[in-house]
Amino acid sequence: MLAIIGGSGLTTLSNLDVSHREVVRTPYGEPSGPVVFGQICGKPAMFLPRHGYGHTIPPHTVNYRANLWALNHHKATGVISVASVGGIRNDLQPGDIVLPNQIIDYTWGRKSTYFDGNGTPVTHIDFTEPYDRDLSRRIHEAGEQLGIKIKLGGVYAATQGPRLETAAEINRLERDGADLVGMTGMPEAALARELGLPYVAINVIANHAAGRGSSANGIHFESLDVVLQEAMGKVKAIIEKLVGCQNGCQSVNSTE
Ligand code: HPA
Repeated sequence: MLAIIGGSGLTTLSNLDVSHREVVRTPYGEPSGPVVFGQICGKPAMFLPRHGYGHTIPPHTVNYRANLWALNHHKATGVISVASVGGIRNDLQPGDIVLPNQIIDYTWGRKSTYFDGNGTPVTHIDFTEPYDRDLSRRIHEAGEQLGIKIKLGGVYAATQGPRLETAAEINRLERDGADLVGMTGMPEAALARELGLPYVAINVIANHAAGRGSSANGIHFESLDVVLQEAMGKVKAIIEKLVGCQNGCQSVNSTE
């Protein structure tokens, strides 16, 4: 069963026909909220909003370990992480949808592994390619079938937040090779790998990164909501296509 983790702009999944919700107890504490189970066009799926249903959990306090553990416990076969980001690379404009293929992790102090001692053998996971290639390819194809442009590839910089970056920090990230910047991609991707869960990120460019383009003199939060809402509509359509919906298949209920 496919699992979707929603970020800012996607705290509910309106195309999920909800059957039930479950509070999952994990050895790592509480997930961001109950996991919502249901069907998208008749295909089973589960959903978890990363920042909680009230959007109250900031990126640095999300219990990533509990979230991924809960989805794995319920036999997720793959995880699609949806998250809004800032665009660093010149061609990335607000509203664009990107499937990154690499990560640089600048976060700190987060609980970032399931293998943290306590009698467990020292374990190193391979993380050369942090995202699942096959799932990325299938998402890209779903976009193509719908005529929705998805940009393939990009280096995602994970920053600590919750504040946005300075212009100098963005310049540094660009020198490091980053194309887009967000606050929640790590340790989520690494934890999924530790659990053996295929994981992919669908990133929506909400704004030009600090000091760039329309954010040259600051990031204007008022404009972000409109951009995100429109793009998240496309993301939902892509997910529907991915799970195999025929044309015109629409949501029945809402998770709201
Ligand atoms: N920086 C970090 N995270 C973000 C941004 C940004 O500019 N926009 C949306 N999430």
